[in-house]
Amino acid sequence: MDTKTTGTMAARIAALKKEQDAVILAHYYVKDSAQEVADYIGDSFYLSKLAAGLDCKTLVFAGVRFMAESAKLLSPEKRVLMPEPKADCPMAHMVVKETVDNARTEYGDDLAVACYVNSTTEMKAWSDVCVTSSNAVKIVRRLPQHHVLFIPDMNLGRYVADQVPEKHVILNDGFCPTHEAIELAEIEKLKAAHPDAVVCAHPECTPWVVEAADYVGSTSGIIKRVAEGEEKSYIIATVIGVRRTIEQKIAGQGKEIFFPETTPICPNMAMVTGEKILSCLETGSGEIEVDDAATEGARRALRRMLELAKD
Ligand code: 13P
Ligand code: SF4
Repeated sequence: MDTKTTGTMAARIAALKKEQDAVILAHYYVKDSAQEVADYIGDSFYLSKLAAGLDCKTLVFAGVRFMAESAKLLSPEKRVLMPEPKADCPMAHMVVKETVDNARTEYGDDLAVACYVNSTTEMKAWSDVCVTSSNAVKIVRRLPQHHVLFIPDMNLGRYVADQVPEKHVILNDGFCPTHEAIELAEIEKLKAAHPDAVVCAHPECTPWVVEAADYVGSTSGIIKRVAEGEEKSYIIATVIGVRRTIEQKIAGQGKEIFFPETTPICPNMAMVTGEKILSCLETGSGEIEVDDAATEGARRALRRMLELAKD
C-alpha cells in the first residue's frame, strides 16, 4: 500500500540525503509518496540530463531499471541506488539482436539504429543513438542515414515515422503494455461526455489513440500542454502518475482533467514508494552496476542522444 509520506519519514530521508550527499530523482509514473520526497520529478529525458550533470555522490533513482542504469552509464563516478530493484520495464526487453544484425546487413552504412532509452544496456550498445519520447522526432530527423531501425517500441517508432516522412523508419514489434491497454473506446466515451476536451496522448499509445489525440507528447509535454493551455478540460492518455503534477500546476485555473475509466497504471513504476526510498538510503541496497561488455557502447549511444538533442 502506498501511504502518504509522513513528517518523520521525510525528515529521516532529508537527514540521510545530507549525510550521503544524495539527490532523489523520480519519474512522474512512480507512486505519489515517492514523488513527494523527490528533489526532481520529470520525464526520462529531463532525468537523464540531470543524472549526467548533477554534482553529488549518490543518486537515488525512483523509476524502473533502465532509468537507473542510464543514470549510472552517464555518471559512472556516482553511486546509483534503485529503491525497488525489481521494477523493470517489460518493453525494455522486446527486441532481439538478430533484428539489428539483419537490418545492418540489408542497409549497411546508410542505416542508423535508434534505441528508445526504455531498453537494456545491451540493446543500447547495439545502437547508434538513444532517444526518448521527447526528443525522438528531432534526433531521427538529424541522423545522417536515410534508413532508421527504431527499437524497441513500435508505437513511438510509428509516430516518429509519421513525423519524419523523409526517412525510411523500420519498426520492431515491442510495445508498452500499459499504454497499449488504453482503449480508444474509453477515450471516445470521455470525448462524447466532454466534447470540448483536448485529448493529450503519449506516443507509446496505439496508433488509434494517437490519431484521436489533439496533442501527442512525452509526459512532460502533456503536463505542459495542460498547464499552459487555454482550454478548460483535458483527457489524458498516459499513466495516472502524472496527475499529481498536473493538479499542482492547474490549481486555481478552473481546469478539469479526465483519465480513462480503466486506470492506466504501470505495475513496475507503481512498486516505487517513499518507504522504499527511505529503506535504500538506510541500507544502501539496490546499488546499480553496469560494468560489463556493453557499458562503453551504451554510454556512447546515450551521450550521442544528449548531443543531438541540443537546440
Ligand atoms: P517519457 O518519460 O519519455 O514520457 O516516457 C514515458 C515512459 O513510459 C517511461 O517509462
Ligand atoms: Fe515501461 Fe510502459 Fe512502464 Fe514506461 S509505462 S516503464 S514503457 S511498461
